[in-house]
Amino acid sequence: MSIGSLAPGEIPQPVAVITGGWAKERDRSLMSGREVADTLTTMGLAPRVIDLEDDREILVERLHGVGLAFLAIAGRGAEDGRLQGLLETLGVAYTGSGVLASAVGMNKLAAKTIVAFAGVRVPEGCRVDHEAKAETEAARIAELLGLPVILKPVSEGGSIGLRTAHTQHDVVDAILSGAGEDLMAEVYHPGRSVSVGVLVDLATDTARVLPPLEAETPDGVYSFAAKRGGDCAYYCPARVEPDTVRALQLQAVTAHRALRCHSYSRHDFIVTDSGEVLWLEVNTLPGLTRTGNLARMADVDGIAYEDLIAHILRGACIDRRAHA
Ligand SMILES: Nc1ncnc2c1ncn2[C@@H]1O[C@H](COP(=O)(O)OP(=O)(O)OP(=O)(O)O)[C@@H](O)[C@H]1O
Ligand SMILES: [Mg+2]
Repeated sequence: MSIGSLAPGEIPQPVAVITGGWAKERDRSLMSGREVADTLTTMGLAPRVIDLEDDREILVERLHGVGLAFLAIAGRGAEDGRLQGLLETLGVAYTGSGVLASAVGMNKLAAKTIVAFAGVRVPEGCRVDHEAKAETEAARIAELLGLPVILKPVSEGGSIGLRTAHTQHDVVDAILSGAGEDLMAEVYHPGRSVSVGVLVDLATDTARVLPPLEAETPDGVYSFAAKRGGDCAYYCPARVEPDTVRALQLQAVTAHRALRCHSYSRHDFIVTDSGEVLWLEVNTLPGLTRTGNLARMADVDGIAYEDLIAHILRGACIDRRAHA
């Protein structure tokens, strides 16, 4: 699949960049929004920028007459199908995945179930029962999964709220500090943290899978701090065997299709120390800064940032029924 530039008149105008929002990843969404808006401006599209939070009261008014909404936003209320549903109802074409893939993709437990059903390996795990006493739940989790475990919110990104628990006491601590958040536990698998981008040409339904990107941190966990400029080294392609690259790429496409993602998505994996590939989660609206993970992988594959943005623009539509 080749990524070409846009033909004049191909894009319904005016274009709006939807960014910001009220999720915990708001700051990162705004960074993506700024870079996407600048790029669209250089393409001559004169985008209007809409902040989902600041413009909430007058959102429908601001969307009036918009030909295409470019979603440069992540997290709850935006990446989880709610915004996509609103745009479909208003008849505004938008970028990225549809309502179903967005809603399922935002819920790590639901997404893992579907992806595992398609034959992709995922870490063993369970939901944390908040009705149970934290000590009882910690004992159950330790019995079921062993220790250490990873505890993370079911519907969050950016490694926000993610903890590694080495003892039952750590599990209790993580449950209590989760502040009622829906949490899940997974077996902690030491290994390399690797991300894989998938771009799909909707006209031909062919996928282009980008070279896997590895994030190396001192403790092996691609944490909140590492994602925000902390101690982290990136390698693209990832430092894994060619067979492992192929397995990562195949599993990323399988997950993309099983979840009914649309023109692009980014999948996070652990490659265990024994070389096993385990799918962790999908990002249906991955960060879109020039130096972000998706742009980094695209660049290594010879796709300039402007062409990546053009690909995403070209995938915009109102109704994804054919692709779900
Ligand atoms: N079961 C696990 N075993 C080992 N490491 C894990 C596990 N789950 C998560 N991690 C580590 O935590 C990181 C973040 O996990 P994950 O991708 O599930 O969370 P996220 O917050 O949704 O990420 P994103 O910022 O991509 O939205 C992973 O890249 C990996 O380094
Ligand atoms: Mg992730």
